[in-house]
Amino acid sequence: MKIGIFDSGLGGLIITHSLIQALPQYDYLYFGDTARVPYGNRSQQTVYEFTKQGIEYLFEQDCELIIVACNTASADALRRLQQSYLPEHYPNRRILGVLIPAAEAAVAATTNQRVGVLATTSTIMSKAFEREIHKLDPDIDIMGQPAPLLVPLIENGGEQWAPPIIKSYLEPLAGCDTIILGCTHYPYFKDIIRDQVGEGVAVISQDEIVPAKLADYLKRHSELEQRLSQNRTRRYQVTDLTDDAVRLADELVGDDPELTQITL
Ligand code: DGL
Repeated sequence: MKIGIFDSGLGGLIITHSLIQALPQYDYLYFGDTARVPYGNRSQQTVYEFTKQGIEYLFEQDCELIIVACNTASADALRRLQQSYLPEHYPNRRILGVLIPAAEAAVAATTNQRVGVLATTSTIMSKAFEREIHKLDPDIDIMGQPAPLLVPLIENGGEQWAPPIIKSYLEPLAGCDTIILGCTHYPYFKDIIRDQVGEGVAVISQDEIVPAKLADYLKRHSELEQRLSQNRTRRYQVTDLTDDAVRLADELVGDDPELTQITL
């Protein structure tokens, strides 16, 4: 049984790369819904429907555990999938998101109790980060900043135009001593963001925290861990295959991953 990774597109390859580096022994199946990316400006119901279809596909491919790398899907669909879909259809399997590890890291990092969140419009509107952070510490002030231009810049090779756009997104977050990068793609810009905010601000990048959280989860759930196969296979599947997707996947994963196209 494999570890499945679900994303709306290819940004989730950044976290996939760090998961594979940290836990190379397992078999991974990446699913990116490139035909329907972006999810970040869609309604909650549509994100739920799309995410459910991707999750169903990954379970049919024998994934024991699915990481929802997409923050928008984690914000809009994860709780419903965990509470309703999973118990009915796959009670012994698990779906994990990326919001809670980032929320925990932010709560641990902040000293002035002011946390900023950069994310897609849909994730900010859902207030999912606020909910998770306030479960841990209700006194923290949270400032959400949608950053909708960053994903298309990466997807379309426009990275050189990012610095002034990032600067304007960060301005409203001045005063926060901790900033969560709440989107699959934003770790791509983490060095620029860290440079711009300076050393006094902690920048929480999910690719740096989720692998250790998963390792810890697997240690605590040995019955599940034992069902994971360990043949070091990696498969990357997408719902639309273009030259741009191949270029971006190579850039994000680094070793020319072979993308194959599937139909849901
Ligand atoms: N994967 C999405 C996220 O992490 C970004 C891309 C999209 O909008 O679908 O929120």
